[in-house]
Amino acid sequence: MIEIAPSILAADLADLAAGAAAAERGGADLLHVDVMDGHFVPNLTFGPPVVAALRRRSRLPLDVHLMIERPERSLDAYLAAGAARISVHVEAVVHLDRLLGVLRAAGVAAGVAINPSTPVESLREVLHLCDFVTVMSVNPGFAGQAFLPQALDKTRRLAALVGELGCTVTIEIDGGVAESNAEQCVRAGASTLVAGSSVYGAADPAAAIRQLRAAAERGRR
Ligand code: DX5
Ligand code: ZN
Repeated sequence: MIEIAPSILAADLADLAAGAAAAERGGADLLHVDVMDGHFVPNLTFGPPVVAALRRRSRLPLDVHLMIERPERSLDAYLAAGAARISVHVEAVVHLDRLLGVLRAAGVAAGVAINPSTPVESLREVLHLCDFVTVMSVNPGFAGQAFLPQALDKTRRLAALVGELGCTVTIEIDGGVAESNAEQCVRAGASTLVAGSSVYGAADPAAAIRQLRAAAERGRR
């Protein structure tokens, strides 16, 4: 199943509810929320109160991407805010095994995100604890960056590792995803596509979501 997750970071930040509504209108499956702390990445965005506010204004499950150092310190707040899925960066956590256990015990989908420079092998010991992995196809920090094509081969290698280990893990790809590369992303093994600028930069975001899904579906044939 293909899941389209518009990234609210690329919407009008003064009108998040309208951005969330456009995602629903376009038939999105998830709403991707980029939490940045100004330390792990050079940008500062949303915190738990904004996640909670989006939860109140949208029916879409929230896919909360934590680009923060030491996420274990604020995990409870994001859980209480109503996240349905939470991903933490493998580069930002010391005790990743423990943290993934906490996420699963809390009943949210547990995800690990990996930066472009981080090898797929760094996930080998924790894949059985993950529900999904987010392959970053940009260096995190900002919406609107160009898709890094090496993310496709990395996704293929991750899919092979998931197969080798026999885990039930889905692959999300995040950064620079657009109609032009969605089919390749799915062919490589991704089933969840995060899209910021290609959705919210379009004249009609709801139509852009439908076009993205159609392109992604072509990758399944
Ligand atoms: C990058 C974020 C992405 C970003 C996606 O740091 O994690 O989710 O908002 O936006 P686009 O699709 O514009 O790259
Ligand atoms: Zn993201």
